[in-house]
Amino acid sequence: MNILITGATGFIASHTIVELHKAGHNIIGIDNLSNSSEEIIDKIAMITGEKIEFHKVDICDCQTLKTILSGKQIDCCMHFAGLKAVGESVAKPIEYYDNNIGGTITLLKVLKEIDCKNIIFSSSATVYGTPEFIPITEDCPKGICTNPYGWTKSMIEQILFDLQHADNSWNIVVLRYFNPIGAHPSGIIGENPNGIPNNLMPYITQVAFGKREKLFVYGNDYDTHDGTGVRDYIHVVDLAKGHVKALKALEDNCGLDIFNLGTGHGYSVLEVVKTFEKVNGVKIPYEIVARRPGDIAICYASSDKASKKLGWQAELSLEDMCRDSWNFQKRG
Ligand code: NAD
Ligand code: UD1
Repeated sequence: MNILITGATGFIASHTIVELHKAGHNIIGIDNLSNSSEEIIDKIAMITGEKIEFHKVDICDCQTLKTILSGKQIDCCMHFAGLKAVGESVAKPIEYYDNNIGGTITLLKVLKEIDCKNIIFSSSATVYGTPEFIPITEDCPKGICTNPYGWTKSMIEQILFDLQHADNSWNIVVLRYFNPIGAHPSGIIGENPNGIPNNLMPYITQVAFGKREKLFVYGNDYDTHDGTGVRDYIHVVDLAKGHVKALKALEDNCGLDIFNLGTGHGYSVLEVVKTFEKVNGVKIPYEIVARRPGDIAICYASSDKASKKLGWQAELSLEDMCRDSWNFQKRG
C-alpha cells in the first residue's frame, strides 16, 4: 500500500515506518518538525536500508498539503501528527485545539479531495478519563479528560465518528494507545523529549544518565499494591506492529472501529524503577513526593479485541522496554 504518515519524524511514527517498510509498504512522510528533526529520516534509512519520501509541511497548511499530495495515489493515511505535552496544553489550550483539531480537519478535507478515505488515528487511553472499570475494554465509556490535550483526542474521535456516519465510504480505525515506552533495539531511534520530561520512562533514563539527580515519584498513597500509580506500559515496537495489523481492519471495510493497544498488564512506578535497575545494572535514586494533579491510580487495557480481530498482541516485556529505553539514551 501507499501510506501517508503525518508526524512521520516523531517517536511512534518513526518506529511504525520501520515496521511498515518491513511489511512491504511504500511510505510518504510529512511533519512540520515542531517536535522532531529531519535527521530521523536518515536514521530510519539506517535501519531499513531505504530512504522514504519526506516533506516538511504543517498539516494546518491546506494549500501546501494539496500541492504535495495531488496526483498521488494514497491508499491510507496514518495520522500521528499532533502536540502531546499535557502540561503545555493546560497553558496553551488554543494552540493545542488549533494544531490538533484544526490540523486534523484540514487534513481530512485534503484526504477527501485526493480520494483517500482510509485513516488510522493515534488516540489515547486518556479519552477514558477515570475509567469506569479495569481492565479497560473499548466498551468502557469515554470520560472527563483532565486537560486540553486529552480533549483534543476525545473531540477528534467524535469528528471521525461523525464523518464516517455521514459518509460510509470512509474506513476509520481509532487506536487508543496506553503508555508507549522503549526504543528500537538498534538504539538508533527512540524518544527524545525536549526539556524536562513529563513522562516516567524518559525521566528515569535521564536520572540513570546523570542528567537529573533523582526521580520524583508522584504519590505512594494510591489504592494499588505498593501505593504508586499503575500503568500499562507498551513497547513502541509492539505498538508500531499494531499499526501494520490495523491495516487489516481497513481492508475488511470496517467502517469505524476502535482498538486499545496495550499489553493488558499494569505495573507500578516502583516496579518500573526496580525492573530498570535490575535489567540495566544502574541505580535510580528516587524521592516520594505529592500526587501529580490529574493522575489516576490504575490504568490498564484489555487488548482482547485487537487480539481477536487484528491478530495482534504485545510480545515484548517490561524488561525489554527498560533495556531498549536505556540503550537508546546511552547512545544519545
Ligand atoms: P511526537 O511528538 O514524537 O510525534 C508527533 C509528531 O507530530 C512530531 O514529529 C511533530 O513535529 C509533529 N507535528 C505536530 N504538529 C504538527 C503539525 N501541525 N503538522 C505536522 N506535523 C506536526 O509524539 P509521539 O509520542 O510519537 O505521538 C504520536 C501521536 O500519538 C500523537 O498524536 C500523540 O498525541 C499520540 N499519543 C502518544 C502517546 C505517547 O505516550 N507518546 C500516547 C497516546 C497517544
Ligand atoms: C500521561 C498523560 C497522558 C498521555 C501519557 C503518554 C497525564 C495526566 N496523562 O499519562 O495524557 O497520553 O502520559 O504520553 O499527564 N510518574 C512519576 N514521576 C514522574 C513521571 C511520572 O511518579 O516523573 C508516575 C505518574 O504519576 C504515573 C506514572 O508514573 O503514575 C506514569 O506517568 P506518565 O509516564 O506521565 O504517563 P501517564 O500519567 O499515564
